[in-house]
Amino acid sequence: MERMRLDKYLTQAAGLTRSEAKQYLKKGRVCVDGEVIKRPETKVDAGLVRVTVDGKLCSYEKYTYLMLNKPQGVISATEDGRERTVLDLVREPVRGLFPVGRLDKDTEGLLLLTNDGSLAHALLSPRKHVDKCYYAVLDGPVGRKEQDAFASGLDIGDEKPALPARLVPAPEGQTGTGALEAEQENVFRPEGQAGTEKNGVLITVQEGRFHQVKRMAKAVGREVLYLKRISMGSLQLDENLKPGQYRPLTGEEVQALKREITDRK
Ligand code: URA
Repeated sequence: MERMRLDKYLTQAAGLTRSEAKQYLKKGRVCVDGEVIKRPETKVDAGLVRVTVDGKLCSYEKYTYLMLNKPQGVISATEDGRERTVLDLVREPVRGLFPVGRLDKDTEGLLLLTNDGSLAHALLSPRKHVDKCYYAVLDGPVGRKEQDAFASGLDIGDEKPALPARLVPAPEGQTGTGALEAEQENVFRPEGQAGTEKNGVLITVQEGRFHQVKRMAKAVGREVLYLKRISMGSLQLDENLKPGQYRPLTGEEVQALKREITDRK
């Protein structure tokens, strides 16, 4: 059982900064087991107490899970002598935080930051086949032929071919998670052209090989001009997050990810 100060508990369970937590406490917005508590140093048993903020129940997680909309120009590493890293974007100090997998410096979109090593390990395990979906703009049209090549497992120059992947045209005007709903039904038109003038496509892969999407596009004769990850398993990029912004995962999002990886033995 983990015993900790109430203000620290609130940083983890309610996504507040330490100073916000103190303010909330001072204003009487926090109840512990039904009683308003104002002292930040009050000790609580993290797994046991019922804490509410403005009447809403908090859910305590031992670990931190942040959804970042990674901007272009920062690297997916914990530290680097020369380049800005994704962790430089996180304002609050969280011990042991690291990015789950890598996005290239020029790739945007969904990046999970956590200090939960076992969840990260399972999400990245090739054996778990967790789908990662990307919105990509290519340098020209693709069609059925390329779609079939993606589906059959492309040779991208590694020892083994890539696992089967999905390539579909992105619905007109959709560059984010809105595209995902239409993704299942989306097929290339018989004449073999993607539906958008921008050559926007959705590419879903089950692995996380180095430059995987770019190398797959190259294997069918195309360059990727823009790349953004929009989902990883059940976790979808929150379109309210501008590049560079992040938020804690909701309890449901964490539970869904955990369920997903335990269901896939
Ligand atoms: N595939 C790539 O080529 N780059 C990324 O950043 C992610 C997937």
